Amino acid sequence: MSAADLAATARELVAAGKGILAADESTPTIKKRLETIDVESTDETRRAYRELLFTTEGIGEHVSGVILYDETLRQSSAEGVPFVKLLAEAGVMSGIKVDGGAKLLALAPGEKVTEGLDGLRGRLEEYVDLGARFTKWRAVITIGDGIPSATCIEVNAHALARFAALSQEAGLVPIVEPEVLMDGAHDILACAAVTEKTLECVFAALFEQRVSLEGMLLKPNMVIPGKDCGAQADPEEVAAATLQVFRRVVPAAVPGVVFLSGGQSEEEASANLNALNALAASAPWQLSFSYGRALQQSALKAWGGKAGNLAAGQAALRHRARMNGAARTASYNANLEAESAAA
Ligand code: 13P
Repeated sequence: MSAADLAATARELVAAGKGILAADESTPTIKKRLETIDVESTDETRRAYRELLFTTEGIGEHVSGVILYDETLRQSSAEGVPFVKLLAEAGVMSGIKVDGGAKLLALAPGEKVTEGLDGLRGRLEEYVDLGARFTKWRAVITIGDGIPSATCIEVNAHALARFAALSQEAGLVPIVEPEVLMDGAHDILACAAVTEKTLECVFAALFEQRVSLEGMLLKPNMVIPGKDCGAQADPEEVAAATLQVFRRVVPAAVPGVVFLSGGQSEEEASANLNALNALAASAPWQLSFSYGRALQQSALKAWGGKAGNLAAGQAALRHRARMNGAARTASYNANLEAESAAA
């Protein structure tokens, strides 16, 4: 695949009014999510839940791509249609999480590095054969007493760039995800400083390793106070702080920034994305979403593991997708939220 093809795929993923559904929870993570609705995590319950998401009518209206987990990429609907095919028929591209998770970083208490580069070239070839069009790798950076260290940021940036280069070599668009976690009591300024340093280091590594910026997407955190910080920020403050950092360190050649929700509530994530788009009419990048929890939380709850609640679960997902689609054009508001939820 040529660099131009990669760039076209990346742009398609951030097409007007659309964003990405992150449904790539690893087996331990989806187990935790299913536990919140008292459903045991089995091959079949995981499959049934993902089928609910992917067969939502009209999913392709506001969802350009879905990130899958290895197991899910190989699964099919109850009727035997592979999920990848089913999504393609709905106009939705399939992507795949390829990292092996964040593990403790040696000699760096409280910090993590994401593993999974060994054998990645071979796995990517297989994912292409299975129909994947894009990939994702998540690094986590924790803010705490004396951390993050420069070492933690550098090793994660290096791995993200290795992953991105291998993905592009295989003809897959990499979604580069350096997540500065919301955990902690730090304020918005601390998040801004760490996010700026992290993104600066990530783009230096991407440049060093010859990654084509036009053929990738960035999946970052918003600049936001820690969950336990006494001074929370309204959407306008989050948008201003985020854009200030991004204008400094995210090259204009990157076609899109697809934010993670990272523990924000569904409505918060929509309101913040809306404020970002309202403030950034002239930004060089598309500002979109790649939400996991902020697209799925109410759908999971409405379903509750009961086949009879399928339609309610799908309606909840459709509603959130519509709200985030509206946030992309800065036309989300509380009235729309209430009207669409009631519809
Ligand atoms: P959240 O939106 O729930 O943070 O998930 C996005 C994601 O893919 C994390 O890797």
